[in-house]
Amino acid sequence: MSTYLVIGASGNVGAELARLLAEAGHTVRRATSRAPTAPDQVRIDAASGDGLAAAMKGADGAFLLAPPGFAQQDRLLVPMIDAAKAAGVGKVVLMSAMGANADDNVPMRKAELHLEASGLAWNIIRPNWFMQNFHTFWLHGIVAEGAIQLPVGAAKGSFIDVRDIADVAARLITSHELDGRDFDLTGAVALDHDAVAAILSRETGRSIRFQDIPPEAMRQGLLGAGLPADYAEFLVTILGFFKAGYAERVTDAVARITGHAPRRFEDYAREHRAAWLV
Ligand SMILES: NC(=O)c1ccc[n+]([C@@H]2O[C@H](COP(=O)([O-])OP(=O)(O)OC[C@H]3O[C@@H](n4cnc5c(N)ncnc54)[C@H](OP(=O)(O)O)[C@@H]3O)[C@@H](O)[C@H]2O)c1
Repeated sequence: MSTYLVIGASGNVGAELARLLAEAGHTVRRATSRAPTAPDQVRIDAASGDGLAAAMKGADGAFLLAPPGFAQQDRLLVPMIDAAKAAGVGKVVLMSAMGANADDNVPMRKAELHLEASGLAWNIIRPNWFMQNFHTFWLHGIVAEGAIQLPVGAAKGSFIDVRDIADVAARLITSHELDGRDFDLTGAVALDHDAVAAILSRETGRSIRFQDIPPEAMRQGLLGAGLPADYAEFLVTILGFFKAGYAERVTDAVARITGHAPRRFEDYAREHRAAWLV
């Protein structure tokens, strides 16, 4: 059995990845920026790089992500990659985001390129927008206004369930079969936000609609919620890419790597219906 470091281990993807690896009998080091409360946790600060060397030491594999809130993700990810290299980690799986490789100057792409050139065994996974955003980031508007309020028009997204991302990551980190390859990860179908609202309405019994809003209203809402200005700008920019249709593509990577079809939005909505009924 092997030892794996999971960055973001209390988050959407990392918690499920840590669970899958532990269930398979591996030793998991769950990274946290907080004071550890369990023996399998290791403290790191992705912003300063503190704790990375100790967390990587002796690990057979490391799962890397940049926590949300940082617009210059390469500044966090490059030190993680360098720490993995210095520690001789056997495999790195980096999660960036679908579309990040459209331009080599995009911060996440810079980190991807750094990993590719590192000499480490690697995979890069680029998930599309998460289904789970609807009961986290977008929850407030849905509960308070009965509306998904986003500047995305009628464009569709092939939303992915974070459990499928974790399943892919678990398979990649524990094997060298697919080393040196990158994968865009999506759900099985693309839905527009009217369709998402209809599913949420059906599953909750509440009337939930989609409201297209101007990008400036989105920016003000994000700033009002306390997000740093550069991160709010980053989110508004990538929502613009969504509106332009770049989130519509469907890939078969989840099925090819995991052997099962991606989870459906309807099932995600049913399982999380209580979140929208508060
Ligand atoms: N949401 C989407 O639709 C989407 C789509 C594509 C890609 N992505 C990418 O996915 C990533 C986020 O993944 P996720 O949703 O699984 O994460 P998440 O749920 O936001 O969790 C990230 C975890 O990182 C930890 N963290 C926060 N600040 C930290 C710091 N300074 N140092 C170390 N750890 C820190 C936190 O745990 P502690 O509190 O324990 O420290 C947090 O639980 C981002 O890079 C985002 O760009 C997101």
